[in-house]
Amino acid sequence: MAKSKSLGPDTMGTRFYKWLDERLALSTMAGFLSKKTVPQHKHSHWYYWGGITLTFLIVQFITGILLLIYYKPGPDAFESVRFITYELEFGWFIRGLHHWSANLMLLALFIHMFSVFFMRAYRRPREFGWWTGVLLLLITLGFAFSGYLLPFDELSYFATKIGLDVAESLPLIGPALAAIARGGTDVTYLTIQRFFTLHIIVLPLIILGILTIHLVLILKHGNASPPSEEAKPKNKRKEIKFFWDFFVKDITMWLLALNFLILVTILFPPQLGSPADPLAPAPEGIHPEWYFMSQYQFLKIFGNILPGAIGEFISIGLMACALLLWAIVPLIDNTGKAGKRAKAATYIGLLSIVILVVLTAWAYLAI
Ligand code: HEM
Repeated sequence: MAKSKSLGPDTMGTRFYKWLDERLALSTMAGFLSKKTVPQHKHSHWYYWGGITLTFLIVQFITGILLLIYYKPGPDAFESVRFITYELEFGWFIRGLHHWSANLMLLALFIHMFSVFFMRAYRRPREFGWWTGVLLLLITLGFAFSGYLLPFDELSYFATKIGLDVAESLPLIGPALAAIARGGTDVTYLTIQRFFTLHIIVLPLIILGILTIHLVLILKHGNASPPSEEAKPKNKRKEIKFFWDFFVKDITMWLLALNFLILVTILFPPQLGSPADPLAPAPEGIHPEWYFMSQYQFLKIFGNILPGAIGEFISIGLMACALLLWAIVPLIDNTGKAGKRAKAATYIGLLSIVILVVLTAWAYLAI
């Protein structure tokens, strides 16, 4: 009775709402969401980056579906991307959005990851938010690696070939893993078909599942406050309503992100190289995209110190250990307060940024 009063006069609209509400519990959900708040302090602007990452992911899905209409995996892959880029009306724009949104998504994801790290948002009870996040990072890198081959131009061919050669050097599972990914001993049309399946079916299904858990957990726990805020007495901490006060700011950031994406796409539309030629030598100065440059440089340095399969194995092993350390940070800094463990986590975070930046810069300087 009380509900129908708050809905106002008995119009067709309110009757329809009541019909839906009875079946979908809309007012229960609205009641839950209307109570959600977001901490307000001098670091609050970092809370936008998860949403910005999500915006770019949505762009990836929409532009990816549009590209699918004309993209042809297999022997015609290169020709279909050439057609999209140079002949199809606005094809260059859709492909450009997909290309730049992938790059910006990874950039936003790194900013999001390090900002939640320094806010200590992985601490109890948010450990699973962190762990699902680490999975999202790996899946996003998987998207980038599998998508890179799809145009099948010279650059994408050799970059994938080098990537899979590295995977092959892993002991025991390496050769089998590389053979399964390639569909044989070389990167061919069969490889495109496999990467395509991974890129448009397997990874999207996995990311949707993990992302749903990630977002439900955030709804459950809300945004974490940084330790400097947590230290304040409760009556000194400020917060704003998620609906609509924070949400309006969130939408503004998404629109700014989309504007920036459109701008870079128009200014720097991605081109296509010459078709992949497995018999040709690898082009001079070939290197992976920026988000794989630090790993690439690490492998190169290690390869110089310890050449051969053993060097590659140790360097891949060390990178796997670093990733594991990153994943278990919530178990290291688990006391919920300042102290030795919190300090250890700070060092891990700072060291990670320094290593990533130095190795990436070094890799570019060495080209
Ligand atoms: C596809 C990639 C990702 C998407 C779309 C995404 C999306 C989001 C969104 C929308 C939020 C809520 C707003 C915010 O706090 O920024 C959030 C929070 C969070 N994310 Fe992510 N995220 C992604 C990757 C990651 C990664 C790689 C990590 C860390 C390894 C991570 C860890 C977290 C944590 C711990 C929170 C809770 C923050 C808090 O309580 O304040 N996320 N994410």
